[in-house]
Amino acid sequence: MLNDEEQAVCRDYKVDLQERLKKFIRMSVENTLPLKIIQDSSFFRLRMEEMKWVFGNWELICISIVLGWLFYKYLIVPKWGLGDNQEEECRRSRLQPPRGSSGWPLIGETIEFIASGFTSHPVSFMEKRKSLYGKVFKTHILGRPIIVSTDPDVNKVVLQNQGNVFIPSYPKSVIELLGESSILQINGGLQKRLHAIIGGFLRSPQFKARITKDIENSVKLALSSWIDRKNTHHPIVYLQDETKKITFQILVRVLMSVEAGEDMEFLKREFMEVIKGLICLPIKLPGFRMYKSLQAKERMLKMVRKIVNDRKIAMEKKETKDSGSPNDAIDVLLRDTGESDGTQQRLPLDFISGNIIEMMIPGEDSVPMIMTLAVKYLSDNPLALSCLMEENDELKKRKDESGEGYAWTDYVSLPFTQGVISETLRMANIINAIWRKALEDVEIKGYLIPKGWCVLASLTSVHMDEENYENPDEFDPWRWEKTGASVNSNKFTPFGGGQRLCPGLEFSRLEISIFLHHFVTSYTWVAEEDQIVYFPTVKTKRKLPIMVTPR
Ligand code: HEM
Repeated sequence: MLNDEEQAVCRDYKVDLQERLKKFIRMSVENTLPLKIIQDSSFFRLRMEEMKWVFGNWELICISIVLGWLFYKYLIVPKWGLGDNQEEECRRSRLQPPRGSSGWPLIGETIEFIASGFTSHPVSFMEKRKSLYGKVFKTHILGRPIIVSTDPDVNKVVLQNQGNVFIPSYPKSVIELLGESSILQINGGLQKRLHAIIGGFLRSPQFKARITKDIENSVKLALSSWIDRKNTHHPIVYLQDETKKITFQILVRVLMSVEAGEDMEFLKREFMEVIKGLICLPIKLPGFRMYKSLQAKERMLKMVRKIVNDRKIAMEKKETKDSGSPNDAIDVLLRDTGESDGTQQRLPLDFISGNIIEMMIPGEDSVPMIMTLAVKYLSDNPLALSCLMEENDELKKRKDESGEGYAWTDYVSLPFTQGVISETLRMANIINAIWRKALEDVEIKGYLIPKGWCVLASLTSVHMDEENYENPDEFDPWRWEKTGASVNSNKFTPFGGGQRLCPGLEFSRLEISIFLHHFVTSYTWVAEEDQIVYFPTVKTKRKLPIMVTPR
């Protein structure tokens, strides 16, 4: 039995404890409990015996359950992220889409965006907003609201595309021209399959060995024709046009084995019509640019369909014989039986024909522009040019002395030459950004990308950021000596990344290396004054006029 004094103490405890519990429950409801618990550890200074006096055993068990549950909800769940959907929603609701401005009604900030492309500093649009709102911001350009990322980590997540939450989202005119089943637009298993087939083919040593000879022949032929011009009325070589001629023929040979001649000329003419529609009003009515481009694509398709059908018939005839290594992209696409992805289905002929044309789009302009711009940067930087010449002269001497032909590995193993290519890709890549759309709300590095929003992962902004590259406006091929020139890190992504990393990466580097080698080892040149413009895509204003002389 308790005496009076003890009973009074006990009564006080009971009142005190009831008060504390009321406070506990009130704070739990108001969600301030975890903070208070840390501030007020006296809350726990009750001893078990004292509690037994006040409540008895059953009450104690109930309180333990309630306490346990509250602990779980307010301390463990937020700390360790074991939360239920509600918690997740609550956290997401606190996240905001990136800051930024929508600019003027309808046109948004398009004028400023385009104007920056005509200056010598095209990333000025991005830089201004980056300084106002941070590395990820929202804007309104080219007819739609868009979130721009200039952050290499955010770009990486967008490109890696774990969980397939981002799909390609090009401007309307590009979507119209590409068509629904283009590799650049499709998603999921079919894109992976097509990517693997084409990438596997373009990366294979057999392909590289064969294409090296083809590229050498085309480059040497073109270079000698430039010299022949010297004694005519048109001695100037417009490098931007001339490199396009070389690379277009090689690309068409790689994709469908069409040789120089009438068919090649037809394809070139029609393809030029097609790509004029890439940036235009997406109106498919006679007289409009889009209509003309779609008509040209249809004419090309007619020709490519015939090539694909003929090849299919020829393949079926010699099905039982060993058909050898594939000659071109049509071969590899026709041969694929769908075993790798378990579909066990061959690709439809129309799908192959369409994709052969659509794959010309990323491949056509990019390689000749890098060749042209490398020559431009080298013309403005005699020291870099002399280092490049020295490295390539050495290789040539070795080959002349041994009497051996060049292997593809000879070209791509020259470190300074690869540095020149990487530096050109860094400073003026033709694909300066990657367009995606979020299929659901995505949080990256604390930024919310709301469902349905378009994301522009700006590659050039990362390449021209002084946080990532010292003196980013300087052409400095030596900077790659430390990292290795062929690196594709978060901060250097001229070929994209993740599931859609350019399958033509190694082939492009090989082609550019071969061109540079034969150009600098056999010729010298004088370039006229020219400027680089960055909109709608990177090009030189005067097509880089040069006068070429044999060495
Ligand atoms: C300097 C040359 C090149 C550069 C800088 C370049 C850059 C790129 C980039 C950034 C992408 C990613 C696009 C995206 O994620 O949406 C890409 C994709 C692609 N590139 Fe290239 N490319 C070059 C040359 C080529 C060549 C020569 C070919 C063809 C033989 C080619 C074929 C492709 C294809 C088919 C894709 C789509 C891949 C897919 O979505 O799965 N590229 N390229």
